[in-house]
Amino acid sequence: MSLLSEAGWLFLLRWIHFLSGITWIGLLYYFNFVQVPFFAETEAPVRSGAQQKLLPRALWWFRWGAMFTFLSGWIYLLHYWLGKRGLTDPQTLVILVGGLLGTIMWANVWFVIWPKNKIVIQNAVDVAAGKPANPAAAAAGARGGLASRTNVVFSIPMLLFMGSASHFPMPMPSSAPVFWALMLIIMALVEINALTGTPGKGAAKPLATVKGTLWFGFILTVVFYLVFMVLGR
Ligand code: HEM
Repeated sequence: MSLLSEAGWLFLLRWIHFLSGITWIGLLYYFNFVQVPFFAETEAPVRSGAQQKLLPRALWWFRWGAMFTFLSGWIYLLHYWLGKRGLTDPQTLVILVGGLLGTIMWANVWFVIWPKNKIVIQNAVDVAAGKPANPAAAAAGARGGLASRTNVVFSIPMLLFMGSASHFPMPMPSSAPVFWALMLIIMALVEINALTGTPGKGAAKPLATVKGTLWFGFILTVVFYLVFMVLGR
């Protein structure tokens, strides 16, 4: 089979999608499972050095990994799944659920996590140069952290649905409007918590720890799965 055929370029797109997806999600897990707990217990000068020199590098690969995953995923989705198979195909529906979760995650990266971390990095650079600290930096870090933990939560059902579409299909819902209403409301509630919740309090409390975040993600996955099963024909 030639790489110049349609199947060939679609496969190349898929390959780019996996490569950029693992770059992105690998760094997301590094930030949440390794770096945040390390920053919490390390000495201030070590943390400041890492914020100035390590964080910008890691965030470069992180946000561009997210961008390439998003673009390759949507080109594939629009061209093949929505374009050729259509919305009545159960596999398209499952990919779309995974793709929507990935899209919210991509928006969190570009419009919350990266801008908030720019404030944190600039603050570390300024303080190291003897300039006054930015009083907004701690809150920016906490908001970026909550959005990042929310992305860990979303990544768990996202990968389940993205992978299950071709290998473990879900049943078609008996009512598409009820299905999408439920799915979108659940996604919106979790995202609103990331954008407006108080870090460490209320519904954001479980996301203060890695254990709580993982529990949240697996429970959310079960909830989405139940929506498929209860509404499935
Ligand atoms: C950002 C939004 C995303 C969109 C719109 C999207 C879209 C897609 C589409 C259309 C496919 C089907 C390709 C095919 O038919 O073979 C796919 C597959 C896949 N995606 Fe994504 N994706 C997104 C995010 C992610 C992320 C963040 C990951 C993390 C690694 C990921 C991992 C995968 C994997 C592993 C498959 C292959 C599943 C299989 O072979 O059955 N995707 N994605």
